[in-house]
This record gives sequence, structure tokens and C-alpha cells, in this order.
Amino acid sequence: MQLTMKQEVASKKVFIRTLGCQMNEHDSARLKDLLTERGYAVCDSPESADAVIFNTCSVRKHAEDRVYGKVGTLAKLKAKKTGLIIGIIGCMAEARRDEIFRRLPIVDFLCGPGDLDKVPDIIDKIKAGAGHIMCLEGYKSKIIPGFSKERKTGEKAYVKIMEGCDNFCSYCIVPYVRGRERSRPSKDILNEIKKLINNGVKEIILLGQNVNSYGRGLKEKIDFVGLLGKIDNLVSTSGGPGYVKVGFFTSHPKDAGPELFKAMRDLNSIIKILHLPIQSGSDKVLKRMNRKYTVAKYKKLAGDYRKIVKGGNISSDIIVGFPGERESDFKGTLNVVKELQFDAAYIFKYSPRPGTKAAKFKDDVTLEEKERRHALLLGLQRDILVSKRR
Ligand code: SAH
Ligand code: SF4
Ligand code: F3S
Repeated sequence: MQLTMKQEVASKKVFIRTLGCQMNEHDSARLKDLLTERGYAVCDSPESADAVIFNTCSVRKHAEDRVYGKVGTLAKLKAKKTGLIIGIIGCMAEARRDEIFRRLPIVDFLCGPGDLDKVPDIIDKIKAGAGHIMCLEGYKSKIIPGFSKERKTGEKAYVKIMEGCDNFCSYCIVPYVRGRERSRPSKDILNEIKKLINNGVKEIILLGQNVNSYGRGLKEKIDFVGLLGKIDNLVSTSGGPGYVKVGFFTSHPKDAGPELFKAMRDLNSIIKILHLPIQSGSDKVLKRMNRKYTVAKYKKLAGDYRKIVKGGNISSDIIVGFPGERESDFKGTLNVVKELQFDAAYIFKYSPRPGTKAAKFKDDVTLEEKERRHALLLGLQRDILVSKRR
């Protein structure tokens, strides 16, 4: 039987599995739209797919191990299903470019977070017999593409306001896999938000590794507080005040301050949640992490926030077992967590990332000790949350 063009197109199916942070969730959503426009249907299992794509994270070794494990289990399926294409995209494709094809010969292509627009063409080329394809370092481009007109969303949508990071915290892989920090022109952001509101979105989350430095390097003169003002104005004139809510993360303590907190207090549409990672409660460790603030400065910021944004929430990220973290440093972290009573805290065990500065430091806190510190902090934070709910 001869297939018509239409039937042929509708038979292409792609399965996308997203691991990692909200940036990756956002990128996967955009990729799904791109592939749908090229005639793919998104399906919900690798077994029914013609192409299986993993959007991956490299922030800790555990995240990479999961990908090796999950993709490895597809070997049987690939052997059974001729023509099945397997791709690894996102941060780990950049970070582990030298080893993925060797460790996972069933993978057909790698594509970095800055090259996702090329995925449909890559799949076509592989179908035509191109063999392994690697498409990396698109993060060197200054352009941050937005969604197409046909963007599909539910009631909540992410909007990327910037990409990359220039902070080079010594433990972190993100600047190496997402490139230098660049901001999207406010006009593009506002247009995207307008479309989302017209499509019925009720909650918008602005994304950036360090939203407080928004605007650096743009031709227009604008900063993050200015952008929030424009967005609030747009939201309150199109959906009615308080109708569409706007959140954002992540904030860096070296760049956040009272101006931002006043905007959070005064602008109706802005959600009063501040994600402000402290990472450690020891000045010595913070310095080695290249975080560029002290515990005292962080405490002052958190105090200002609570004073200005009445009823606002504050959440944090913390790393335990960073190289050189002694018991006294860890006690500093316990103390600051006790004192600041975060509304949420995400606690991670330090994981050396090849290529980062900290990977050259001796990873001298044993796994047992990292686990002990992790459990202690988790327990403390749980107690804090229980006492807050009372
Ligand atoms: N741009 C954001 C998010 C970075 S990744 C920020 O600056 O906060 C999210 C969190 O993962 C970080 O805040 C940090 O706590 C944690 N993290 C990053 N690299 C890590 C590593 N090598 N080991 C353990 N945790 C890490
Ligand atoms: Fe990583 Fe630091 Fe940049 Fe956050 S601010 S992405 S932790 S380098
Ligand atoms: Fe996000 Fe992981 Fe990349 S945290 S930016 S998906 S390394």
C-alpha cells in the first residue's frame, strides 16, 4: 500500500524525556513544538517512538549516571526496532561529548542546549544514513530563540529572560555548558508574555541563572527591576490586576537588593517568593566557592527582604561537603539555616564536575560524612517547616 504524504507525516513519533532543571523543561517544551511543526507526534513511551530524545543535566554526577542507566536500557529496543533514533541533548551532551558515543554506542546524536533548533534536521539526516552527529557550542550565539506562534501551554508557562552564566562559582558546570550570560531584549519577552496571556496562561515564571543581572550587554538600558515593572504593567492592563501571576528565579545574593524587594512589594502581579541560594554558612567555603558575598551580607539581605516583602517566602540551595569544609564550617551552615528559617531549602552533596575550578581541589570530605551532613540539614529543615506550619 502506498502511503499518502499526510499519513507518512503523521506516522513519525518522538518521545522526549526531560531530566534537569526548569531551563531544560523549557527547552523540551520548545523542542516538542518544533518537532510537532515538522510533522512529529509526541508519544509517551520509547516503545512506540521513531526517535527517543533525552534532555539531560550535568550539575551533579548522579544526574549523568541516571542518563547512562536509562539510555543503556534501550539497547534491546534499538536491536529490535530498526531505524530507531536515539539522541542525547542538553547540558550533558556538551559536558560529556568525549565519552557518550563510546559508553553508549546506541546513541545517534548529541545536541547542546544552544543547538536545539537543529534537532529536526539532525533526525532527517540520520534517517538518510548520516551516521553519528554532534551539534555543540551553539551557546556561543547571542540569540535566544523564543517559542513559535503555535506554542502549546497549560495554565503555567516558563519564559526565558536570559541564558548562560558568567559567575563561575567554582563547583558549577553551568557556565561551561550554557555559555556566557546574555539577556533577551525586553520587547521579545513582552511579546511572548502577551501571546501567553492571550492563550489563557495564568502563571508565568521568568527563568535565568542569575535574573538580577538581567539587561547587562543589551543595547536598551534596562535592569531586572525595570523589566518586572514593564511586565507588571502589561499583565495588569491585559488580564486585570492580580489575574496573571509572575514569578522568577534564580537570584544571586551578590546582585539582589532592596530595589528588587520593593518591586516585589509594590507590583501586584509578582509572586512573593525569592529563591536566593546561600550555598554555605561559612565565609571560608563561600570564598572558595567564588560566591562573592559573606554570610553577614546574606543575613542582611534576607533580613531586608523579610522587612520589605511582608509575608514573602524565601528559599535556598545549600551544598554540603565542599572541598575543605570542616565540621566548624558545617556548623556555620547549620546555624545560619536555624537562624534564617527558610521556607524551603534544597540540599545537595558536593559532586566534583570535571573542568570546573573546584574539581582541582581535593574532594576531601568522605561520602559518609557528606551523607551525615546532608541528613542533619534535611532533618533541621524538616523541623523548621513543621514548626512554621503550627
Ligand atoms: N543558577 C542557579 C542554579 C544552579 S544549579 C543558581 O545560581 O543558584 C542549582 C543548584 O545546584 C545550585 O544552587 C547548587 O546548590 C547546586 N549545585 C551546582 N553545582 C553543584 C555541584 N557540583 N555539586 C553539588 N551541587 C551543585
Ligand atoms: Fe552555577 Fe553559580 Fe552560575 Fe548559578 S550563579 S549557574 S551556581 S555558576
Ligand atoms: Fe539545568 Fe542541569 Fe543544565 S541544572 S542548566 S539542566 S546542568
